[in-house]
Amino acid sequence: MSILVTGGAGYIGSHVLRLLRDRGDDVVVIDDLSTGRLERIGDVPCVTINLAADDSPDLIAQVIAAYGVTAVIHLAAKKQVGESVERPGFYYRENVGGLANLFLGIEGTPVDRFVFSSSAAVYGSPASSTVREMDATQPVNPYGETKLAGEWLVRAAAHSLGIKTVSLRYFNVAGAGWPDLGDSKPLNLLTLAIAAIERGDQPVIFGDDFPTQDGTGVRDYVHVSDLAAAHLVALDGLAGGLEHDVFNVGTGTGASVREILAELQRVSGEDREPRITARRAGDPATVVADITRITQELSWRAERGVADMVESAWSAHLHERAGLAGVPVAPERA
Ligand code: WQD
Repeated sequence: MSILVTGGAGYIGSHVLRLLRDRGDDVVVIDDLSTGRLERIGDVPCVTINLAADDSPDLIAQVIAAYGVTAVIHLAAKKQVGESVERPGFYYRENVGGLANLFLGIEGTPVDRFVFSSSAAVYGSPASSTVREMDATQPVNPYGETKLAGEWLVRAAAHSLGIKTVSLRYFNVAGAGWPDLGDSKPLNLLTLAIAAIERGDQPVIFGDDFPTQDGTGVRDYVHVSDLAAAHLVALDGLAGGLEHDVFNVGTGTGASVREILAELQRVSGEDREPRITARRAGDPATVVADITRITQELSWRAERGVADMVESAWSAHLHERAGLAGVPVAPERA
């Protein structure tokens, strides 16, 4: 009996994988390696499959049979909001089409548990600053739409295939559980700010005139190790049966852009003052998770705060920089 992790070579997937391995679970990865990296997964078997390709259901079924898979954690997806606006067809094909193929591959197999990687992007610009799972889902970009459509498909598959499923709505994921598993793509606030420092530029603040404590945007930053742990808790919870099938995964506490950047200044020793620009289109002032449901039903709570996220992200950055400079870097523990 083993667990299939799709997207296991990615930033979040590799953390999930390491936690599963650490507790002794058998695992197998499916990843198309478009952004994933094999060196993140060590000796875990990895089958290179693009889930959106026409032949993927057969290949998935073969992997399930060959490895005795009974549970799936599905993280493989595209996640760039801007790109999704430019290429909605690509995002729907990859994220929704890939998920549809995954369920076609699962049909008729012993798989009975499924964890889906969803996103706070399903809420769009929430009406209230703290968001609950039962609040309106109104994504404001195709990326968020594909995650919401994914949740619907997961629910439909749960009914038709008789499997137990759960969707985890990630808030703003940051940090690294191990220095070799950092988020190497500068796509979010912290990774963009680190990349700016690396180039000798100033980090950028997209607007300081929001109705927040210091005028900058407030988000719920959750450490990737805490998020990864939530997958294991959700998977285990499914075995017993859960009351709900959608959970926010955040800390329940917001941090502003200024707070994150101040922490980065402290940790990096780089005191370049951030540059203020206009607001980015579509950015809400505040998005923070209400974590009542996951706390009560799964007894999960984030253990790490902003300092830990920024410190570990910076360590991972230094680890990567040393590797790029040709210095051998061992995958040590954080
Ligand atoms: C955070 C805050 C920015 C960069 C997005 C997606 C979401 C999810 C996570 C998925 C905001 C501000 C940012 C910068 C800044 N996606 N900012 N300067 O927009 O909350 O969420 O990523 O996988 O679906 O929408 O995250 O990190 O881009 O921004 O001031 O250089 O930082 O305005 O307030 P966001 P983010």
